[in-house]
Amino acid sequence: MSVTNRTKRITARQIQQWSGDQPIVALTAYTTPMARALDSHCDLLLVGDSLGMVVYGMKTTLGVSVEMMIRHGQAVMRGSDRACVVVDLPFGSYGESPAQAYRTAARVMAETDASAVKLEGGVEMASTVAFLVERGIPVLGHVGLKPQQVHGHGGFRTVGRGEEAARVEADAVAIAEAGAFAVVIEGTLEPVARAITERLAVPTIGIGASPACDGQILVSEDVLGLFTDFTPRFVKRYAMLGQAIDQAVAAYAADVRARKFPAAEHCVGMPASDG
Ligand code: KIV
Repeated sequence: MSVTNRTKRITARQIQQWSGDQPIVALTAYTTPMARALDSHCDLLLVGDSLGMVVYGMKTTLGVSVEMMIRHGQAVMRGSDRACVVVDLPFGSYGESPAQAYRTAARVMAETDASAVKLEGGVEMASTVAFLVERGIPVLGHVGLKPQQVHGHGGFRTVGRGEEAARVEADAVAIAEAGAFAVVIEGTLEPVARAITERLAVPTIGIGASPACDGQILVSEDVLGLFTDFTPRFVKRYAMLGQAIDQAVAAYAADVRARKFPAAEHCVGMPASDG
């Protein structure tokens, strides 16, 4: 089944049964206006906990709360009616036990009306994924570089070199067999992503994981040149909106200082200037 050319919202089940004739297109979204701009182009919108870094200026995603994810999940749902919207479960809100994960995921699903949740983890999270899926909560997995485990990884680095490759593959297989409808693979080598993609019955969505994956996801602000604190090698910039904003704001500031803005046409009850 192709996931494109649909008028109704794409479901997690449709992503799971995706035929592979076209790659899955996914981007992050955190706000209503961004969701509106992306929705018709994307099969999946992720309300990623990367919002902690991109929107709130945090150094990692660890400080993101469930409340933040819910507020941004609601905002994205207001701006989207086509893409499958997935909301990240933040650090500390699901790793303790399947019951904790269920409480958090059920709250996120009920308060946002999103289609699914995403959680990071491999073999150690498989029983939690199965617990959620058996209770009707679709789960998107996330293996390879897991930003919530940045301290355990020893930094934001490529994962899966040498002996690590088998671990990344085992993680993906465990999460897929536990019932995840798709698996995000982040920051790994092409042969690792290829082996996983060939082995899994569900689609893989790569970020820094090569074209071997069944779909691709990036952080929208990276794609648009709105987040320039650092640029991972795997990002391709399609616009430099940060520069456009800088130029626009400089022009506004100059107009205000020169008393050119507001002009008569921007005001009520002000005589039109004669020149
Ligand atoms: O939080 C996030 O944005 C993610 C990605 C896969 C980009 O997890």
